[in-house]
Amino acid sequence: MTDRYAVFGFPIGHSLSPIIHRQFADQTGQQLSYEAQEVKPDVFNEALADFFKAGGKGVNCTVPLKELAYEAVDQLTQRAKFSGAVNTIKRLDDGSLLGDNTDGIGLLTDLCTNLGVEIDDQRVLVLGAGGASRGILGPLLEAKPRQLYLANRTVSKAKAMEVLFSSLGRIQSSSYEDLAGKQFDLIINATSASLSGSLPEIANGLLSPNGVCYDLAYSEQPTAFVCWGLQEGARLSVDGRGMLVEQAAHAFHLWRGVMPETSAVLKGLK
Ligand code: ATR
Repeated sequence: MTDRYAVFGFPIGHSLSPIIHRQFADQTGQQLSYEAQEVKPDVFNEALADFFKAGGKGVNCTVPLKELAYEAVDQLTQRAKFSGAVNTIKRLDDGSLLGDNTDGIGLLTDLCTNLGVEIDDQRVLVLGAGGASRGILGPLLEAKPRQLYLANRTVSKAKAMEVLFSSLGRIQSSSYEDLAGKQFDLIINATSASLSGSLPEIANGLLSPNGVCYDLAYSEQPTAFVCWGLQEGARLSVDGRGMLVEQAAHAFHLWRGVMPETSAVLKGLK
């Protein structure tokens, strides 16, 4: 029987995950199916139970279900615990559900391996202190930046993240205004502003010469933040399609024990 996988989300029509996972399956010779299912938050637990009762092997969860998935699983990986969210669920042999979060490692793989961006000893700024931000802060701290600033419109949320991650390393929370006069080698946009075509209110001049801008969001047209980075003279200003493919590759690895090759898949999406 073909092993069944799915991505749950709402809305889900735009999801690129089925295309990505089918390419991974073809490339590695794995027999599996991967479908997109529109699942609203109020029926998430039921949909998850039904899927696994029918023999499903694994599920990806996307917006707005990652926090619900965190609550629904039986066990969590360490990185999922820190991120407070689950994007990948695997049914283990004993029938229990393991929750993982591959977003942060997906970002790091794209930034460091694909794009050759250094984080070690660099000055890094993350914009936004919501769920997307929480998913990447742990792996960013592990990559040993010289400074990791976290700026948010609502400063108290950035401060809460600073406290939450204090056992992993130092995050300096800030308002957007208090960033004035500072410079960063890497600026990551983890706000949801791009999704509505807007930009956080950040001052010009925050990016160091030769700096890099990375937007976790992606769209067919360059996002407002990617455009901002280019205007600020970034040597590289990219959206999150690379992260999308890499987080999928790590999910595929958790499920199948094989790491797919991502470059051809990424090229196809770009
Ligand atoms: P996600 O899971 O995508 O992170 P979220 O948890 O709702 O979604 O968080 C959204 C983040 O984007 C928050 O940091 C939010 O800032 P506030 O905490 O101040 O609300 C940020 N955000 C959304 N729209 C924004 C905008 N136009 N300008 C600045 N920040 C914005």
